[in-house]
Amino acid sequence: MTINHEGLRAFTKHTKTIATFVVIGAAAAHCSKPPNPPAAASAPRITMTGPLIASSVTMVAAWEFPKNPLTDTSLDKSKLSDEIRRGFKLFTNTPGEAPQLAPGGMSCTNCHLNGGQRERSLPLVGVSAMFPEYNNRSARLFSLGDRITDCFLRSENATGSTEKPEELPTPTSKEVLAIDAYITWLAKGTAVGKNPTWRGQNAIAQAKLLPLDKLDAKKGEAIYAERCTSCHGADGQGVLIGDKKAGPLWGPNSWNDGAGAARVYTLAGMIRYTMPYLDPGNISDEDAQHVAAFIDSQPRPAYPFKDRDYKVNKMPVDAVYYTAGARGQGPGARAVSGKRASD
Ligand code: HEC
Ligand code: HEC
Repeated sequence: MTINHEGLRAFTKHTKTIATFVVIGAAAAHCSKPPNPPAAASAPRITMTGPLIASSVTMVAAWEFPKNPLTDTSLDKSKLSDEIRRGFKLFTNTPGEAPQLAPGGMSCTNCHLNGGQRERSLPLVGVSAMFPEYNNRSARLFSLGDRITDCFLRSENATGSTEKPEELPTPTSKEVLAIDAYITWLAKGTAVGKNPTWRGQNAIAQAKLLPLDKLDAKKGEAIYAERCTSCHGADGQGVLIGDKKAGPLWGPNSWNDGAGAARVYTLAGMIRYTMPYLDPGNISDEDAQHVAAFIDSQPRPAYPFKDRDYKVNKMPVDAVYYTAGARGQGPGARAVSGKRASD
């Protein structure tokens, strides 16, 4: 399904037009009741929280990048500047720039909204100053390159496009290095080792977490039908809104079952503060968990190296695709091959 909007790119500076379009688009999709967007006539000036687009801003700002290497005049013609620009392009149009690494067609910016520059959407501004960092899942120090590689392998399901390990991304792949350059550029001026205050804000408070056996995927499905289908589709495969593709939230083109988003509480924390995109933040802690439980009860590609994870540290309880079956044999492995859907 596609929401048509000709020449949307040309309108990116005119948030008013986009607001009108998004409202009409969401209403036209009519498979669910769209949340209340701000009146198009009073399209907002973008509210910022420090260097980030504030988490309350709606989808009208989805095309904005507070720092954009393609237009930033502080960048020059050097090799480094070229890499930063290339990294930004890879981040915001991953399937266009590196199709072999994003077989499902998702971009990094699908989850790290506004090029990783939006509050409470897993923002990446300043985070490079925190690496190397200990990684619990792998029980070793991770460089920023290791971390980016993991998002390629899991969140982007790069493992779904090849069976040859030598073709998989590594921290020295040119795509990983370019994105590293972009994320490091976003940290310019940040003190090394200073944890940004906006980091780690996509978590639901411990006291509000429901035990997994109290999460109701059926209830989550009803919430999904009411609040998410206008943009993500009844089949979860996502609607095209201008050049933005919402979802796919499950199936062969989604993140694989070894991804952070395949953990129920992690996904709930993302949804709680970023979605529904015309009314972000307006979903309760509880509903975000039910809807996440529904999404992560669905089939998705299998990450083939799950047996290497959590070998030292305790497996988190919400890693449902690990615990649902033997390692490497979770529901994803049973249901979808994870191969490029069009092959
Ligand atoms: C399906 C959603 C999704 C996509 C797509 C995605 N990520 Fe992530 N990313 C996450 C989640 C969730 C986390 C936090 C992981 C956790 O809590 O275990 C994360 C964490 C990160 C971190 C570490 C942030 C920090 O504060 O330590 C970096 C860097 C990163 N991602 C880069 C990328 C890059 C580069 C891409 C594209 C190649 C990408 N991500 C695509 C979901 C995603
Ligand atoms: C008004 C449209 C809209 C609505 C309603 C909406 N989303 Fe989204 N969602 C998007 C768009 C667009 C993106 C991708 C953002 C980007 O690339 O800038 C997205 C991204 C996501 C992501 C990140 C991974 C991905 O597949 O893109 C998740 C998870 C998600 N939405 C879940 C939900 C849930 C759950 C609901 C209902 C509670 C919901 N969304 C409602 C538009 C919407």
